[in-house]
Amino acid sequence: MRFILIVCWLLPLLWSCSANTDEKYIIGFSQCTGDDEWRKAMLDGMQRELSFYPNSHLIFKDAKASSQTQISQIRELLQSDIDLLIVSPNEAEPVTPVVEEAYKKGIPVVVVDRRTASSYFTAYVGGDNYEVGKTAGQYIAGLLKGKGKIIEITGLPKSSPASDRHRGLKDALVPYPGIRHVATLNGQWEKDIAKAELSKIITAHPDLDLVFAQNEVMALGAHEICEKMLPARKVKIIGVDGLPGKFGDIQMVYDKVITATALYPTGGEEAVRVAMNILKKQPYEKENLLQTAMIDSSNVRMIKMQTDKIMDQQSDIERQQDRIDEQLEIYKTQRNLLYVMTGLFIISIILGSVALYSLVENKKINRELNSKNEEILIQRNRIQDIAEKAQEATESKFRFFTNISHEFRTPLTLIMGPVEELLQRKNEHPLVRKNLSLVQKNAQRLLWLVNQLMDFRKIESGKIRLQVAENDIVGFISGLMVPFEYVAKKRRIDFRLITKISALKVWFDVDMIDKVLFNLLSNAFKFTSDFGRIYIYIEHTGNEVLIRVEDNGSGMSEADVAGAFEMFYQGNDAIKGTGLGLPLSREFVELHQGTIEAGGTKGEGAVFTFRLPLGKAHLRLEDMADASRKPASEVQYFTTNDHNDNQAPPENAESGAPAVVLIEDNEDLLSFLQSLLQPKYHVITAADGKNGLERCLDSVPDLVICDVMLPEMDGLKIASALKSDLRTSHIPVILLTAKNSTEQQIEGMQTGADMYITKPFSPQFLLESVRSLLTNRAILRTSHVGQNMAENSNAMSRLDKKFLNDLRAAILARLADPSLSVEHLGKEMGLSRVQLFRKTKALLDFSVNDLIINMRLEKACSLLAESELSIAEIADQTGFSSQSYFSTVFKTKYAVSPKDWKVSIR
Ligand code: FRU
Repeated sequence: MRFILIVCWLLPLLWSCSANTDEKYIIGFSQCTGDDEWRKAMLDGMQRELSFYPNSHLIFKDAKASSQTQISQIRELLQSDIDLLIVSPNEAEPVTPVVEEAYKKGIPVVVVDRRTASSYFTAYVGGDNYEVGKTAGQYIAGLLKGKGKIIEITGLPKSSPASDRHRGLKDALVPYPGIRHVATLNGQWEKDIAKAELSKIITAHPDLDLVFAQNEVMALGAHEICEKMLPARKVKIIGVDGLPGKFGDIQMVYDKVITATALYPTGGEEAVRVAMNILKKQPYEKENLLQTAMIDSSNVRMIKMQTDKIMDQQSDIERQQDRIDEQLEIYKTQRNLLYVMTGLFIISIILGSVALYSLVENKKINRELNSKNEEILIQRNRIQDIAEKAQEATESKFRFFTNISHEFRTPLTLIMGPVEELLQRKNEHPLVRKNLSLVQKNAQRLLWLVNQLMDFRKIESGKIRLQVAENDIVGFISGLMVPFEYVAKKRRIDFRLITKISALKVWFDVDMIDKVLFNLLSNAFKFTSDFGRIYIYIEHTGNEVLIRVEDNGSGMSEADVAGAFEMFYQGNDAIKGTGLGLPLSREFVELHQGTIEAGGTKGEGAVFTFRLPLGKAHLRLEDMADASRKPASEVQYFTTNDHNDNQAPPENAESGAPAVVLIEDNEDLLSFLQSLLQPKYHVITAADGKNGLERCLDSVPDLVICDVMLPEMDGLKIASALKSDLRTSHIPVILLTAKNSTEQQIEGMQTGADMYITKPFSPQFLLESVRSLLTNRAILRTSHVGQNMAENSNAMSRLDKKFLNDLRAAILARLADPSLSVEHLGKEMGLSRVQLFRKTKALLDFSVNDLIINMRLEKACSLLAESELSIAEIADQTGFSSQSYFSTVFKTKYAVSPKDWKVSIR
């Protein structure tokens, strides 16, 4: 990894090292005119010099001999971010301001050839024009031997070379008065203008000896005019520039077209050299004047040879330059290729390293994965073993359950047979008949449960088989409803079959569908309250029959709906089933290739819908029933002897017997317990928790027997509600339940219940328990009759002790008040008159009034013994309305008058 990082860091470094280190410069070049050979030579010279600085380049602008154009071109250059400006001004004055502007902006300015009118520039490069004019003048003087007539043709008078050269010429001719300078014409540096100007005046000077033209082109023009107009005079022509090449004025001197020419170097190379020095901050001269010399017939041959040679060399150099450029191009391409190759190489090294690293990592991960896989495999095998063992264990449990269920059938039959026989006898006592019916009904129910368990086992082992036959489903269902109708009538449940069809032939296993419907209906009856509604719908839709059982009972929560058909699922409701009925029903329906679903809302009712396909195309041959098969209907388990209306009412206890509230939701058990207790006690019943608690509060019984699992409110809640309420805290509570674990019993006792009896229980034990709890209460009561009634018992609850103390305190506070009544005390204690009466009677075994009288007499005794008050005063202080009433009551209680009693104890 570190290697990759180093390479990544080195790559740009390498790149930057190999790149050209030359600074990049942009040089703007404003040329006054670009058409003539001299200017072309100047530009060539510049380009040649610039080729030594490959990163820098020139932006060239040609003003075409217009000062205005030049000004705007310079402005354009200034806007294109140039590093330096080279300018050859067309005319000095007009161009000067813009050049000054550039200079003042901080852009270095190199003025070439022609000058500006100010010194605001960085450097000047060009020939010394005054010297040019002077050298030419001195040469003319020599040539004409101090005597003759000359005409001068100048360039643009406002350009510095024109004026400088003119001055030089004039100064040089001063010592030669024989030479007459007859005219100075403005040729504007142009051949044609020069020709036109000369032709205008030449005829006025037929004795003309010489024309001095300030540049090469104007010299050629002068030659042409003189040849044309003064051919015989052989007028001498002197030019300026000294340009090499076929059309240059050196060739013209050589060809004797003109007499001589003054060398005026372009200074292109020098200008770039100075410019680069400025840019690179190297030393440079501000004034760089180039030398001049005369070229005439005496030296032209040599000079021409030299310039030709130079030009050859120049073209060689240019060719070489081109080659170098080509090579450079090749080099550049190859260098770029090398960079790309190096880059690719480095990338491949990086990728290679990454791949290698990944390979190593992958191997590591694979090794780890393999070992994890092995572990998982071992664990999976272990889990499989455990699962198999669990399966075996479950299997053997099921086997055990099935076997034991099977075993149950014989004793159950042996119970049901004799019971049925006993029930046949007409002369049995009604109570015996009632109990026998109860035994029969519950034995049948047990048999039904056992059969369910066995069906389940058959399904589990795949042994259950369809035995279908074609039957009318409407008639079948109507038949099944009959036994339920009796219960519906008794409980005022609106129970009906709703269908538009009178008969429908369906292929089904009567035994199984009987079980399904029995299940659905018994559930509906179980969860629907009295006065509720249970409807069965039969609909013929397409190629199936739909049967729906709908009730408006307690309904099912979403979780109950979802889990309804799961094996052993038991809802959250207080009333739970075996969790087998609905899964079995589903199995039976699905064996018919049908479907079953649950629905409804909690608190609003439940809906069960099952569909059976019509026809028999979906059935196999072996699914067809033997003609001999006769189904055993589930209904038998429902045929209770509830019809037994002629049963005698249970014996009633004599009036004044203790009152017992019985709270039990199982109707049979409630009825059984009622008949068990009724002979000795006044029994008040309730079938759910809420109702039960209400019964306790309004009747304030002597004892409560309460089931733990109850609808609406469970027994534990009832017990703690009773024990924490002043009105009922004294009542002994017996909890009755099937929950028999120690923890559950502790939980029961923690609510304050006095006894916890688990089902199944012995009726004798229950009766004994009731009796002993009530007797204990009575013993407790007798011990309370004395003074410290509240303090001397540990068996009494704190709440009851407090109640008695409060009651006593309330009586004492108003003992002297003869109008003190039970109503008054009840209000003060927060109880009704009846509740106060019952509670006091239960705790003390005498009425509140008796208690008031007792307390008045106790107080009277202490006053008789300890005070000197008269009998009348004592009667008054202890709340007796008169002395005679006091004496009567006292005598009744103690068999002696107050007066005698006082005498006897003193
Ligand atoms: C070219 C030229 C030259 C002359 C110079 C003066 O445009 O006319 O022939 O020497 O300009 O600036």
